[in-house]
Amino acid sequence: MSTSAQLPRTRFAIVGTGGRSVMYSHALLGDYRDRHDLVALCDSNPGRMAFYNREFAEKFKAGPLPCYAPADFERMIREQRVQTVIVTSIDRTHHEYIIRAMEAGCDVISEKPLTVDEGKCRLIHEAIRRTGRKLRVTFNYRYQPVASLVKEALMKGAIGEVLSVHFEWTLDTRHGADYFRRWHRDVRNGGGLMVHKASHHFDLVNWWLASQPETVFGMGDLRFYGRANAEARGDFHPYERATGSAAAKADPFALELTGRNKELYLDNEVHDAYRRDQNVFGDGISIQDDMAVMVRYRNRATMSYHLTAYSPWEGWRCMFNGSKGRLEVVFEENAFVGGAADARMEQFGAAIPAQAETVRHILVRPLWQKPYALALPKDEGGHGGGDKRLLDDIFIGGIADPLGRAADHIDGTWAILTGIAANRSFATGQSVRVADLVPGIG
Ligand SMILES: NC(=O)c1ccc[n+]([C@@H]2O[C@H](COP(=O)([O-])OP(=O)(O)OC[C@H]3O[C@@H](n4cnc5c(N)ncnc54)[C@H](O)[C@@H]3O)[C@@H](O)[C@H]2O)c1
Repeated sequence: MSTSAQLPRTRFAIVGTGGRSVMYSHALLGDYRDRHDLVALCDSNPGRMAFYNREFAEKFKAGPLPCYAPADFERMIREQRVQTVIVTSIDRTHHEYIIRAMEAGCDVISEKPLTVDEGKCRLIHEAIRRTGRKLRVTFNYRYQPVASLVKEALMKGAIGEVLSVHFEWTLDTRHGADYFRRWHRDVRNGGGLMVHKASHHFDLVNWWLASQPETVFGMGDLRFYGRANAEARGDFHPYERATGSAAAKADPFALELTGRNKELYLDNEVHDAYRRDQNVFGDGISIQDDMAVMVRYRNRATMSYHLTAYSPWEGWRCMFNGSKGRLEVVFEENAFVGGAADARMEQFGAAIPAQAETVRHILVRPLWQKPYALALPKDEGGHGGGDKRLLDDIFIGGIADPLGRAADHIDGTWAILTGIAANRSFATGQSVRVADLVPGIG
């Protein structure tokens, strides 16, 4: 069992102050304020930083924190004596801030995905070798109680050696659709859902199996979102953005920017033209919404994986075939999307109404014996309680980690390589050897 030392008091800065940054800023100004200092913000959009400074004053009587533009990132580190940078900017910028922070003498905590392609990944590895700084990638799904329970059962040998995995993840028309409204819809920004989203899932499998991907073959396509698909179904609503559009009124997928979405994004478009409410059936989408992937792992296990981004329900099913039996997980995060208002995600963090009706179980089916169910832990907040456990781990430290949940840059790299290889396979029709993508990683 590994136990890290408790963290000393640390001066943190956050780069990328959008939706996800809140988990870290609120934690640092709230539950963990006696342990650490959040000392600065950096974002390309000054309006969003100003929004958060107003919120910090209201909610935590804190701030205002000094705000810096991307060009002044090193000055921020110097002036505010930053020790650790938290990277929550858009995916294609992660490598830039990780490397700049390390060159300036900081350790880094980065949101997933580590980065979006193998070239940027190699640059990160070179910077770590050059600077000796530490990089942690925050895979909150490892901390989700059900995912942890699966890991524990597999570690205890509940089904012997795992020989193969059948894994399906569905994103519903509320959450899945959201990737087609904003920056994620351009493959250059997030590497498509294979990297942006599936890196969570591929990381889980690497961790569950205690192995790494060796060979990947995949097929992916845009079959539901996008203008051509909607026109073929006779269901195209002619608008570019939802807010203020009459044509959008008839489209249940349209996201009108109101409330917090308005304050955080719409009101700050003047600074960067970031449109949060584009038509999911509009032009210019370069990512897939339906992806099938086959993986062989270095321990000879195989996986068939499917990701669907237009499903009526959200969650995952994972079947493990082992030498002593089978373990089956069904975990619905959201049972259904109940109509337009539900689909629109008007408020961040709004309760998902259909969550109460979800089907969830973990069944162990040993060979020659009756199957039995594992008792499921209670769902307690963001990502089933995973977010809180992750925060304790990164801001308190000293917590026993028998399941090996803490992830470094090597875990972060393996997690994106399956998706990067799948993207290459989508384009070439060939299978891809993963170790060839980042030499030395194997
Ligand atoms: N682990 C999870 O469950 C989880 C959940 C949501 C998001 N995320 C990750 O968090 C990150 C942010 O996602 P989000 O949903 O908050 O997106 P967002 O669009 O709400 O926020 C992104 C922020 O990055 C800023 N930005 C863009 N270009 C920049 C640049 N060059 N320099 C500095 N800032 C820049 C934008 O202005 C914006 O404020 C992504 O990497 C995403 O993968 C992780």
